[in-house]
Amino acid sequence: MKKDLISIVDFDKDDILDLLDLTKDVKANKSKYECSLKSKCIGLIFQKPSNRTRVSFEIGMVQLGGHAIYLGPSEIDMGGRESVKDVACVLSRYLDGIVARTYNHEDAKELARHAAVPVINGLSDLEHPCQALSDIFTIRENFGKFKGVKLSYIGDGNNVLNSLMCAASKVGLDMKIATPKGYEPKIEMARIARSIARVSGSQIELSNDPKAAAKDADVIYTDVWVSMGQEKERSKRKKLFMPFQINGNLMKFAKKKCLIMHCLPAHRGQEITDEVIDSKNSIVYDQAENRMHAEKAILLRLLK
Ligand code: CP
Ligand code: NVA
Repeated sequence: MKKDLISIVDFDKDDILDLLDLTKDVKANKSKYECSLKSKCIGLIFQKPSNRTRVSFEIGMVQLGGHAIYLGPSEIDMGGRESVKDVACVLSRYLDGIVARTYNHEDAKELARHAAVPVINGLSDLEHPCQALSDIFTIRENFGKFKGVKLSYIGDGNNVLNSLMCAASKVGLDMKIATPKGYEPKIEMARIARSIARVSGSQIELSNDPKAAAKDADVIYTDVWVSMGQEKERSKRKKLFMPFQINGNLMKFAKKKCLIMHCLPAHRGQEITDEVIDSKNSIVYDQAENRMHAEKAILLRLLK
């Protein structure tokens, strides 16, 4: 396993399956890991807001016997008050690990390059690897397998999708993706996902047709139409993305028992309706809970 988790692509299939198995054990046997990271400390360098990532890492670390320090934009101002390199080198003298939420993916990479301690990407403009790991864990928890499970992602081709599609291709999950024209996932990430899929035998299909993507789905996944940092595009995106809303009509194309996933925060009434996100098939809060179990597994493997 690599020193850092910056891109999900850096972890091979065995690393991912090992993390999923450890996540399962961590979730089932909380007390077994109570002292595993005793007296270790991580720093959370966050340039953007967060509920799940911040709280799940902080609490996860406490549950492992360690400690976490939140370093918001006003404390660190990475790249402004001091260089990414200086932040990395200084914090490596105090901390045992860093979780970084950056605007620019290159900043997360540079931080990892200079840090002597593990750096975990807690979301960048390009990827959200912790979310992807936790999400495929949630899918396996529900279906007991990956092979034959049809995951549909309908919405914006963003950071969450980039990581999810690469994780899916590694473990052999089939994915149908529908985004509006011009809002496809990053070309390079789609290329990587497809080349991994050729080896693993999974199918990663991209289209601009939400109904075709929803057809016979076992899971429908969506995310916000406007990611953090894209606020100026809000009104344009809201109009353009409306045909991609996950609502009762679209759900008719999916299997009856189709599960609903959303990484949250959700913008109810935009990418998903109340009717769908509050339905009995919605597993969004299990998904949020599993972030913490998966991140504990990541911390255990990288900080040990
Ligand atoms: N899903 C997720 O990463 O949520 P936060 O932005 O609240 O951390
Ligand atoms: N795509 C969203 C995910 C939030 C967890 C964003 O980047 O804002």
